[in-house]
Amino acid sequence: MKVGIIGGTGDIGKGMALRLSQNHEVIIGSRKEEKATLSCDACCEFLKELNLPFDLTASTNQGVIDTCDIIIFSVPPETLQITIDSLTGLEGKLVVSLMNPMERKDYFRYAPPEEGSAAMQLQKMLPDSKVIAAFNNIPAKQWNQISEILDYSVCVCGDYEEEKQIVMELVNSISELQALNAGPLAVSATVEAITPLVINIAKFNKMRDVGVYFR
Ligand SMILES: NC(=O)c1ccc[n+]([C@@H]2O[C@H](COP(=O)([O-])OP(=O)(O)OC[C@H]3O[C@@H](n4cnc5c(N)ncnc54)[C@H](OP(=O)(O)O)[C@@H]3O)[C@@H](O)[C@H]2O)c1
Repeated sequence: MKVGIIGGTGDIGKGMALRLSQNHEVIIGSRKEEKATLSCDACCEFLKELNLPFDLTASTNQGVIDTCDIIIFSVPPETLQITIDSLTGLEGKLVVSLMNPMERKDYFRYAPPEEGSAAMQLQKMLPDSKVIAAFNNIPAKQWNQISEILDYSVCVCGDYEEEKQIVMELVNSISELQALNAGPLAVSATVEAITPLVINIAKFNKMRDVGVYFR
């Protein structure tokens, strides 16, 4: 399956591209194709130096939608509407949300939209797409440290069982990630809210590699 990342030039998009492209066909998307190409070239160079196999290319965000089976939305939540307005052809597509709307004060606080969560907002904006929430609680830094094992739990939520299974298989294909079915898309509000908790714990305890593992 071809996996495309909308906003794939960002912190998390690059890290996901590095990991996913080792055993999937991956396309880094951007508003600007030249930016996607630069990011892709840097990732390819890095993977080559480590002697790792990869299948990674670059395109525009629209190019990602036109050619990919799984479309990961990796843009800041506040840019969701403008991003969607600039794109077409998402009907019937499997769309993954990893977005966590947060406010930063002297600590991080979950700040969901009125729909309840970023994933639910995305589903409302794209009523004919199949939105699955996943990968919310893994920090970009951990994605990017590709010589290190990723051994976290990944809560997967969605109202489309077949698509949820596809995303769970994708999760389980990466390092030692453990996909867990967390239920319908409505549960994504709880899952997204874990991320500011993880960041606050890391910050206030001076811990690194904080993550979630359910046993
Ligand atoms: N960072 C993390 O550790 C982490 C962890 C889990 C989940 N997440 C979630 O993942 C998403 C991406 O996070 P990130 O840290 O990678 O974000 P980011 O680096 O700030 O942005 C990601 C990409 O979004 C695009 N973008 C930025 N501003 C935009 C705008 N005004 N309009 C349209 N597109 C814009 C840019 O791509 P182009 O300029 O190439 O178009 C950018 O490279 C967020 O929703 C976040 O909540 C992040």
